[in-house]
Formats: sequence, C-alpha cells, structure tokens
Amino acid sequence: MKILAIETSCDETAAAVVEDGRDVLSSVVTSQVDVHSRYGGVVPEVASRAHVELLTPVVAEALLEAGLTGWDLDAVAATTGPGLIGSLLVGVSAAKGYALAWGLPFVGVNHLEAHLHAAFLEEPSLNLPVVVLLVSGGHTMLISMESGADGGFPFVYRLLGQTIDDAAGEAFDKVARFLGLGYPGGPPIDREAAKGDATAVAFPRGLRGEGYDFSFSGLKTSVITYVRKHPETPVRDIAASFREAVVDVLVEKSRRAARDVGAKGICLGGGVAANALLRERVTAVCEEDGLQAFIPSLVMCTDNAAMIGATAWYRLRTDGPSPLDTPANPNLHLPLL
Ligand code: KG4
Ligand code: ZN
Repeated sequence: MKILAIETSCDETAAAVVEDGRDVLSSVVTSQVDVHSRYGGVVPEVASRAHVELLTPVVAEALLEAGLTGWDLDAVAATTGPGLIGSLLVGVSAAKGYALAWGLPFVGVNHLEAHLHAAFLEEPSLNLPVVVLLVSGGHTMLISMESGADGGFPFVYRLLGQTIDDAAGEAFDKVARFLGLGYPGGPPIDREAAKGDATAVAFPRGLRGEGYDFSFSGLKTSVITYVRKHPETPVRDIAASFREAVVDVLVEKSRRAARDVGAKGICLGGGVAANALLRERVTAVCEEDGLQAFIPSLVMCTDNAAMIGATAWYRLRTDGPSPLDTPANPNLHLPLL
C-alpha cells in the first residue's frame, strides 16, 4: 500500500511516499527557515503563504522521486494537528483535493503520534514498551509507548510527564535569540557548545529529581540574568553550560522513567532529538543500563512527511479512512491512555 503523505504543520513543507508503513520511496522537505529567520521565529501568516507556493512542487517532486503518479497510490494522508491553523489548512485541503481527484481514501494524522512512529521507520524491530522523549519546538513529553490490547497497533501512549512552561526547543530558540545566534536556535547552540566549557556556569536544573515534569523557563531567565551580569563570558561557554543543563534533566528523567516502567529502551523524537549531546548521553545511559537506544537519524527527528506516511498506514488499517470533513485542529491531542 503506497501512501502519499503531506506535512505542513509549522514551517516545513514536506511530502513523501511511504509503502506499507516502512519503505520510504521518497521524502522531500523544504524548509522555510530563510523566510522566517529575519523575524527571529515563525510568522504564521508568512508560513501559510509559503506552504501554498511550495506544496504543489514538493508533492510533484515526491511523486517523481518515487517513480509514481497519483493513479498508482492507495491513499493520501496529511497532518491534521497540532500546529499552526493556517499552515495545517494548506496541507489538509490539498490532501483532500488529491484524494478526491484520484478517488483515494484520505487519512488524517496526528503530528505527535507521527514523531513517535518515526523511530519504527528506521528500526522496525523496536521492542515495546519504550520510553519516548518527545522534544520539539512546541512539546516536551515523556511517554511510555506500549503494545495495544492485541499485542500490536494501535499502540498505547501513557503520558508520564511534560513541560509545565516552555518546551525544550523553545528554550533553545529563546536563549539563541538572546545570544544573537539566530533562528532556529538548536543547531547554532549545539555548534557553539561543542567549542565551550560546559562547567563554566552552573545553571539551574528545573524540577530535577522530582517526578517526570519539566520546567525550562527558570533556566532561560537564569541565562539572561547571568549574561547581563557577566557580559565578558564567552558565548560558547554560556551555550555549553545551557545545553548541559537542559540535557542533564532530559536524560535523568528519561532514564528514571525507563527504570520505573520497566521499558526495554529509550527512544528520542522531535527536533531537539537532533541535539548532539542529548544523542550521546542517551546512548551512553542505555548502554550502562542494558537498554536499547533508538536515536532516529537527523532527518527523521525534525519535521518530515515520511513519518506521517508511516503513521497513516497504521491508522488506516485500524481506524479506516478519515471523513473528508475532518478538520485541521491546532490543538489536537495525542490519544493518551
Ligand atoms: O520537531 P521540530 O522540527 O518542529 C516542531 O514540531 O516544533 O522541532 C523544532 C525545534 C526547534 O525549537 C529547534 O531549535 C530544535 O527543534 N532543534 C534543536 C536542534 N535542532 C533543532 N534543539 C537542540 N539541538 C539541536 N541540534
Ligand atoms: Zn514536529
């Protein structure tokens, strides 16, 4: 079963063709970073307009790369939420239009569930239960992903903890903006941090050792206050100390959660999973604790349509097609236990 998938929830216009939930026949991702970077963040209206311009060529390229036409497909999927409403509407409307034109079922996909499924695309032998650390620009969640009632899909997602204020990616973006490192903030902070001293400043570890919830807004304020008082501190040392504080808490909680729920492994998902230190530390603690570490490739961590196509295949088999009046929902929740 070949599914054309479309992802336009934020500032990436992406299309992919995925076969049977596993084989990625093509995956095209066009980032709008250049359009938004001069504003220091995503401007929703600008993002929607860019999706309108980019989507048709991106879909055409995905089909061409897969060597298919619309008539060879079995379904068309799109992210219905969560995300920016204007951006979501572009992808959802286009997918419904393609589905109607080619006489195919439409499948609405939850963006967060797709991030959770990204790991399966690269590691089909993933053993459940796993603890998934889902860390993106909008979310920071610790989830226990377990097999469904019949031992398979749909999986059961148990929310163990989440951020009570800023998302981890948001903290990277805000601190980077303050340090003048541009948008998005994760990659430049990662680069600066690699050259710096992570022990230079002992930034606070929000909610460390307490439950599974996260808090990053105090850390962000602490970085700003420190830099104002000590402007001579090299940016690389601030970046390294900040990254250390974020990763320290993320890894400590994931590790403890894995132990408490008896997980077989720890899995990363979302844009912040591209962070070099986070990847290194999760790999190391899994090795120490005898757990499997599932670290998706960089392209599978950030937003892409291949993960939407994979999830759509699972959802189509269990839930059937989505009605054509399925709305785009900016606040769509993960189906939690
Ligand atoms: O999942 P994603 O592509 O989009 C959302 O759904 O939010 O995540 C984007 C977030 C941004 O906040 C970005 O700064 C962060 O992921 N990010 C990183 C890195 N690369 C991207 N954060 C830390 N380290 C990185 N290397
Ligand atoms: Zn995302």
